[in-house]
Amino acid sequence: TEYTSILTSTRGRVGWITLHRPEALNALNSTLVDELAHAASAFDADDAVGCIVLTGSEKAFAAGADIKEMEGKSSRDMAMQNPFVGLEAFSRVRTPVVAAVAGYALGGGCELAMTCDIILAADTARFGQPEITLGVIPGLGGTQRLPRAVGYYKAAELVLTGRMMDAAEAERAGLVSRVVPAADLLAEAEKVAETIAAKSLPVVYAAKEALRASLETTAAEGLRFEKQVFSSLFALDDQKEGMAAFREKRSANFTHR
Ligand code: HXC
Repeated sequence: TEYTSILTSTRGRVGWITLHRPEALNALNSTLVDELAHAASAFDADDAVGCIVLTGSEKAFAAGADIKEMEGKSSRDMAMQNPFVGLEAFSRVRTPVVAAVAGYALGGGCELAMTCDIILAADTARFGQPEITLGVIPGLGGTQRLPRAVGYYKAAELVLTGRMMDAAEAERAGLVSRVVPAADLLAEAEKVAETIAAKSLPVVYAAKEALRASLETTAAEGLRFEKQVFSSLFALDDQKEGMAAFREKRSANFTHR
């Protein structure tokens, strides 16, 4: 497929998506979002891909929704031809997604990172929800996912003031799992992704689905769901293989069945 605003590739069992609108710091316009959703669904449908890495450039993961594309729209336009619908599809892929963030992850860029499962940050990363400064509020999940990630009070400060936080603060707050030197970001993301991609794919899907339930349901419901999913995994060859490998003191050879 020919994309104009992203680059894609696969290395081993890892699918890579690189946001690529250098002229606009990877601002999310309708083309980029459509391409992102398309590429992610293609990786998701491919059993040879066990993990996706999403990254941007050294300067920006994404500086937000494209302000120039949005500026003149009416409220009806935003409701009827929402340019960002693809982000919902992207947020629902079963394959784990590692966001490798260098530079700006602002507004829709921060929200895009928060649809991923793991956020690794370069020491150059800056996160924020500056929408309030533009006369709007976050519209791609920021008011919901940020408080769940960093707690209500820190999220409220960020959303109400539009202040950016650096990588170290984002790690302390729990948004970012690890900060690495910028030069090592992609290699570290690849290591994490390869580790995940070496596991049994149906088990990885199950783990992600159960983790996601924690964001959406009560603990009691989530625990019931986890117990059912856990039991169901004993129907897989890979459960037998994983446990046999432990007993035989060797590493597992998963067949994704
Ligand atoms: C459109 C953008 C853009 C954006 C940057 N550019 N961010 N274009 N939408 N979100 C463009 C600039 O206009 C400029 O184009 C080029 O990219 C380089 O940016 P500069 O501003 O010159 O770079 P710099 O001085 O280094 O400043 C970087 C920055 C600043 C601090 C990140 O660009 C910035 O504040 N951007 C906007 C951040 C923001 O408010 N994001 C939230 C968007 S609202 P030219 O042609 O001049 O070279 C949002 C809502 C989501 O995300 C909800 C939707 C439903």
